[in-house]
Amino acid sequence: MVEVVRHRPAGVYAHGPHGMQTTPKLAGKVAIVTGSGRGVGRAVVLKLAGEGARVVVNDLDAEPAEEAANAIRALGGEAVVCAGDVATPDFGERLVSTTLEKLGRLDIIVNNAGYIWNTTIQNHTDEQWYAMMDVHATAPFRILRAAAPYLRAAARQEQADGRLVCRKVVNVSSISGVYGAATQLGYSAAKAAAIGITKTLAKEWGRYNVTVNCVALGHISTRLTEPLTTGPKAIVVKGRELNVGLQPEALDLIHALTPLGRGGTPEDAAGAIYLFCIPESDYVSGQVLICSGGLIF
Ligand SMILES: NC(=O)c1ccc[n+]([C@@H]2O[C@H](COP(=O)([O-])OP(=O)(O)OC[C@H]3O[C@@H](n4cnc5c(N)ncnc54)[C@H](O)[C@@H]3O)[C@@H](O)[C@H]2O)c1
Repeated sequence: MVEVVRHRPAGVYAHGPHGMQTTPKLAGKVAIVTGSGRGVGRAVVLKLAGEGARVVVNDLDAEPAEEAANAIRALGGEAVVCAGDVATPDFGERLVSTTLEKLGRLDIIVNNAGYIWNTTIQNHTDEQWYAMMDVHATAPFRILRAAAPYLRAAARQEQADGRLVCRKVVNVSSISGVYGAATQLGYSAAKAAAIGITKTLAKEWGRYNVTVNCVALGHISTRLTEPLTTGPKAIVVKGRELNVGLQPEALDLIHALTPLGRGGTPEDAAGAIYLFCIPESDYVSGQVLICSGGLIF
């Protein structure tokens, strides 16, 4: 078992040489992170808040969303909860208007909400296909469309004022969307769509100084990928019981094939997403970063 050493906990700002405090990288920024009540999204909101961003926590399930927001507040950060299903047609409008009403601006959007619903193609139903498309492709499209008028108006105002403010979109995809994965037909197609959305919007929104990038995750330890040591496991998503988890032997094989020799943590995934949220990546757009410990198939 490898112990992953964290450089510093969320909520504690960086210190430069000689213990001098440096400005948090995301001070003054406002970030939306969908599906941030658990797993990768929760690690992302903690990371962004730890760097000074005020965050909007969204999740299908209100309870974990409130818990994540309270964890941020306990560290001295500011968090607003906008619970709800990102796949609901008017959710994008609600999410963006809540953000602007409560926090007054919008700088970073991380489209992370998602889940798996796996079966071989002969058992793939239309309902399953559309559920995967709805949450991983249609929901990010609607959220980004809802943000477009604000992003355009803000960019025009800043250009008129002679200021250059870079805003950020990060779409969370999967190595399944890049390389495919047996039993994940709808999921992999939807995660590939997230890459298409990324590349097109990077071209459309450069004029507004918005970078649009994608992080394709490999195996990250969350409830979706837990080892099935005591039999099958299921999660309930929108009233449906869906099988999750991996056989311990399959996990061992994945780790053995991974150059870094282990699965990723939610914090590892959040670190990759964070790279596209900070000023150092202001001239990087339309890219897909694979965060998989070096596993590339
Ligand atoms: N864990 C992995 O190995 C892995 C690998 C590749 C990609 N991903 C992607 O990373 C993202 C996060 O997954 P995770 O592993 O952290 O899973 P998770 O289940 O731990 O967390 C995902 C969160 O998203 C929420 N969510 C699901 N559907 C939603 C909806 N319709 N509206 C709002 N919230 C919703 C869930 O309630 C949950 O809290 C997903 O998009 C997933 O497809 C994960």
